[in-house]
Amino acid sequence: MTDASGPASGAAAELGERVEHRWAAVMVAILVLFVAGATFAGIYRAALPQGHVETVNPRTLHIDGEFIESNLGSAAEPDGSVTVRGIGQQYSFTPACVLVPTDTPVTLRMTSADVVHGFLIGGTNVNLMLVPGYVSSLRSRFDQPGERLMPCHEFCGVGHEGMWARVKIIDKAAFARLAAQHRRLSCVE
Ligand code: CUA
Repeated sequence: MTDASGPASGAAAELGERVEHRWAAVMVAILVLFVAGATFAGIYRAALPQGHVETVNPRTLHIDGEFIESNLGSAAEPDGSVTVRGIGQQYSFTPACVLVPTDTPVTLRMTSADVVHGFLIGGTNVNLMLVPGYVSSLRSRFDQPGERLMPCHEFCGVGHEGMWARVKIIDKAAFARLAAQHRRLSCVE
């Protein structure tokens, strides 16, 4: 047993305290570094202007351009991907049933004809805002066939609650057969 009251133990206690302070400083530095890193990661991208913004005139959507009615729905592209074009308006989506294939890159291109709407596809990463005057675009992929709901998730007026569409995901080969017969596809009956 060592003598706990000797001058040697006093020096040891002092050393211990210094080491403890040093470690506390290191811990605080690590915490500050983590917080700074998380803050940077969270703010940096959000603060950047969007890489590319596409505008569209909401008043002439139905008359000409990409979002005329005959061009809405799903289109098979030459590169094997699929483009889905749709419009949100008070209080529905056009098409009201979106048809997409499994295991295929799908680009969603949507806009609003009136006010701000939201839309998401349940169980997927698809979640966008539809802002009149702008095209909202997102690439996604659907692995499992099935049906999903596509509700508006942005309050857009008295009919907001009833604003939703369906998404039907069908087998890639079945989709290709339909795409060979029709220029634009949807599952609206
Ligand atoms: Cu559209 Cu809520």
